[in-house]
Amino acid sequence: MDPDGTIRYFLAILTDLSERERLLEALRHTEQIRLVGQLAGGLLHEIRNPLIGIGSLADHMGQSRELPETLRRQASLITREARRIDELLESHLSQLRPRSFDLSEISLDELIRDAQSLLSETFKKRQVTVRITHAGEVPPVEGARGPLQQVFLNLAMNALDAMSSGGGSLEIHLSREDRPAGEGVSVCLKDTGPGISPALLKRINEPFFTHGKAKGVGLGLTICRDIVDRHRGHLLIDSPGEGGVRATVWLPLRQEQESP
Ligand SMILES: Nc1ncnc2c1ncn2[C@@H]1O[C@H](COP(=O)(O)OP(=O)(O)OP(=O)(O)O)[C@@H](O)[C@H]1O
Ligand SMILES: [Mg+2]
Repeated sequence: MDPDGTIRYFLAILTDLSERERLLEALRHTEQIRLVGQLAGGLLHEIRNPLIGIGSLADHMGQSRELPETLRRQASLITREARRIDELLESHLSQLRPRSFDLSEISLDELIRDAQSLLSETFKKRQVTVRITHAGEVPPVEGARGPLQQVFLNLAMNALDAMSSGGGSLEIHLSREDRPAGEGVSVCLKDTGPGISPALLKRINEPFFTHGKAKGVGLGLTICRDIVDRHRGHLLIDSPGEGGVRATVWLPLRQEQESP
């Protein structure tokens, strides 16, 4: 600063906050999925404790000679039903345990054509036309077939729901695309529905966020994101100015081995 108070130089420290925001958002999202799983797991686990108590008491009553035959039979019935609930809870708990993917070489083009055939009747009924295009040769990716199929089905279902009145078109474009994360393939699904407003777009990653649907659960995109993340890929949903929604799935060509 000059003696007369004029500022000649100044030092500015600029930090790009958008990357940090993105990381925070990703962390928040992972946390939300973990919490939903934990909540469900905790609930199932806690229900089993009183259930075991009920089952063993009923079992004891079922074998008691002091009780009349009809009551003993009813008590045995309670034992059997308690066991059935226990088996149900056990199978749900084992599904909540994170399992590793069964990886194989997958042609995304084939996977998308399979999804198209699975939904063909619904597309016809809702007067939605589908067009699949490629930018040159698209190599196969290493991934889990079932879960990846689920991703494209969920995204296509969302597009269908958005175009349920008056029809429309769904464009699916596949291209080879390398990103800083590695070599990969990008699949872009673009619909001609009403799109999503910026305010709602901000909430799209929240589990159970659903809007404008009678039967929406709000888990479709959460599941998609989880599957794509577990493939070390990226999922981006945006609603460009020209209308509709664009869902872009990027998947790396290879899945690296977890470091030990
Ligand atoms: N292609 C799209 N066009 C317009 N809105 C969309 C589109 N895709 C998603 N949305 C909006 O995002 C919300 C969340 O989508 P998501 O798939 O997670 O849940 P859902 O479709 O409501 O229910 P679910 O998939 O669990 O049956 C939708 O309710 C909808 O409002
Ligand atoms: Mg959905």
